[in-house]
Amino acid sequence: MFGFKRLFYGICCFVFVCVTFEVNANGQCSKPNTYPNVILAPQYSQENNFRNGTKVTYECILGYIPTSGSKSSTCQDGKWSNLTLECQKKPCGSPPDIINGRYNISEGTDFGATIYAICNEGYVLANQNKYRVCEVSGWTGHNPVCEAVNCGEPPSILNGMPDKDSDIRYQEAVEYTCNNDSYTLIGPSFIMCAADGSFTPAPPNCTVVRCPEPFIANSKRVQGSPPYKYESFVVFECKKGYKMTGADRLTCDVNGWTPSFPTCSEVNPTTWKTTPATSTTPTPRSTVHVSQPPTTRKVTTSKTAVTTRGTTHVSRGKGANITPHALSVAVGLLFPAILERFL
Ligand SMILES: *[C@@H]1O[C@H](CO)[C@@H](O)[C@H](O)[C@H]1NC(C)=O
Ligand SMILES: *[C@@H]1O[C@H](CO)[C@@H](O)[C@H](O)[C@H]1NC(C)=O
Ligand SMILES: *[C@@H]1O[C@H](CO)[C@@H](O)[C@H](O)[C@H]1NC(C)=O
Ligand SMILES: *[C@@H]1O[C@H](CO)[C@@H](O)[C@H](O)[C@H]1NC(C)=O
Ligand SMILES: *[C@@H]1O[C@H](CO)[C@@H](O)[C@H](O)[C@H]1NC(C)=O
Repeated sequence: MFGFKRLFYGICCFVFVCVTFEVNANGQCSKPNTYPNVILAPQYSQENNFRNGTKVTYECILGYIPTSGSKSSTCQDGKWSNLTLECQKKPCGSPPDIINGRYNISEGTDFGATIYAICNEGYVLANQNKYRVCEVSGWTGHNPVCEAVNCGEPPSILNGMPDKDSDIRYQEAVEYTCNNDSYTLIGPSFIMCAADGSFTPAPPNCTVVRCPEPFIANSKRVQGSPPYKYESFVVFECKKGYKMTGADRLTCDVNGWTPSFPTCSEVNPTTWKTTPATSTTPTPRSTVHVSQPPTTRKVTTSKTAVTTRGTTHVSRGKGANITPHALSVAVGLLFPAILERFL
């Protein structure tokens, strides 16, 4: 009983080994090898055993195209020959140009890549075709359209009008004019539609600009006459004996006359100039210069006067008065001393 069972298993084992050996002996092959980006031609994909010498062919997978090598592999003595076929992504090529835009092709332009449309500054996508995908048949969809930003209606202003009223596009200019000659346009007459959809700069103002009659003492107007409108000008001249400080020409601006009024001051024959005293202590060896009649007049000290040649003017503070009496006292004291020198 036991012997029979062993015999049975033994036979089975022998048959299996024999069959296996026979396959190898016949040079048969099992399923062909797999490679990246390639696939076995459909007619071979169901088979599991291939006779010695059988040739199978491969194809590139979807979206790939053959670039080099042979598409076939041969079964030889139980082994498949190595496949040399190389497949690469099919290129869709450069997409058509977008007017006022471009594509972001950071993913490339080969099969599977997505390209995104980017409009230039001041332009926006007009339709929903934001992107295109490289498929087997080429780029999906249609080329996007970049259209200029619409700033809409230009701002309205008082006493003036823009020359266009709606649908102002990027970089389009609008010109303003005032309703009539009574108004002065202050600011830019042209404004533009900017990339962000706003107008720039701010629109002008139309205002009535009138300047009053300018009054400058001791002068007369030699050019210009009322009414003084925007940018009207006047020229003044001082009367005889008066000297002008400031500009003689004034222009009527938004906020009145500009620059500020000049002044006409009397031409003064007295050229004495008074300056604040810098020292109140006269040097001990001072002498008094008596170059003028001994009448009351103002004497001041100045730094230069004090230091020149060791002489100084007598000073008793700012604008000290020297009376004739004081002078005679000083002369009376000094005179004997001077006489003494000569004797
Ligand atoms: C397989 O085929 C080749 C030629 O086609 C031959 O040389 C070789 O002997 C064969 N192998 C076997 C095991 O039959
Ligand atoms: C086939 O490919 C294998 C593994 O890539 C390599 O070891 C073998 O040498 C190749 N055979 C031939 C004939 O090139
Ligand atoms: C292009 O697209 C990539 C990813 O798709 C993104 O990282 C990159 O910032 C984009 N470049 C531009 C200029 O938009
Ligand atoms: C300008 O228009 C204003 C108001 O519309 C009017 O009062 C003024 O008389 C006009 N001036 C001229 C010079 O037409
Ligand atoms: C117009 O007038 C307004 C209000 O007075 C002021 O804010 C604006 O700056 C003016 N514009 C120009 C261009 O002068």
